[in-house]
Amino acid sequence: MWEDRYGESDRIWSGEPNIRLVEIVSGLAPGLALDLGCGEGGDTVWLAKHGWRVTAVDIADTALRRAAEASADLLEYIDFQQHDLTKTFPEGEYDLVSAHFLHSPTEWDRDSVMRRAAASVAGAGVTWRLMRTPPRCRA
Ligand SMILES: C[S@@+](CC[C@H](N)C(=O)[O-])C[C@H]1O[C@@H](n2cnc3c(N)ncnc32)[C@H](O)[C@@H]1O
Repeated sequence: MWEDRYGESDRIWSGEPNIRLVEIVSGLAPGLALDLGCGEGGDTVWLAKHGWRVTAVDIADTALRRAAEASADLLEYIDFQQHDLTKTFPEGEYDLVSAHFLHSPTEWDRDSVMRRAAASVAGAGVTWRLMRTPPRCRA
């Protein structure tokens, strides 16, 4: 489904970071970040530019390719990984776990993915989610 969505246009999202990410993370010391459902990389790029080493995850080939293109000058700070997070999850612990607008139009076990995300937060790390069912996607 997400490949179909990305196939609708050369760009779906704005390329800008989510405002809540900027608000919250601006006050944190950079470390290791996990961006779940990175899409076209708006958050990943912002994090890498602000000193974070980012593991950026998405299920969609096109999302990962566009995110890599958007971060071409930052690739040494970013590890792109393809996962269907309901099946596999990145290894490791992270100082920051972000899952902005990670959602699915089809039935999926979101709670398990969020529990797994919370378990990947390092001792003094931060995790949050904006809302359970976003009213609309950022465009
Ligand atoms: C609404 S977009 C949000 C993209 C980005 N976080 C942003 O805020 O611009 C949701 C993203 O989650 C990804 N996604 C959805 N289900 C997923 C899953 N099960 N595993 C990994 N990624 C998934 C989609 O491919 C899509 O890129």
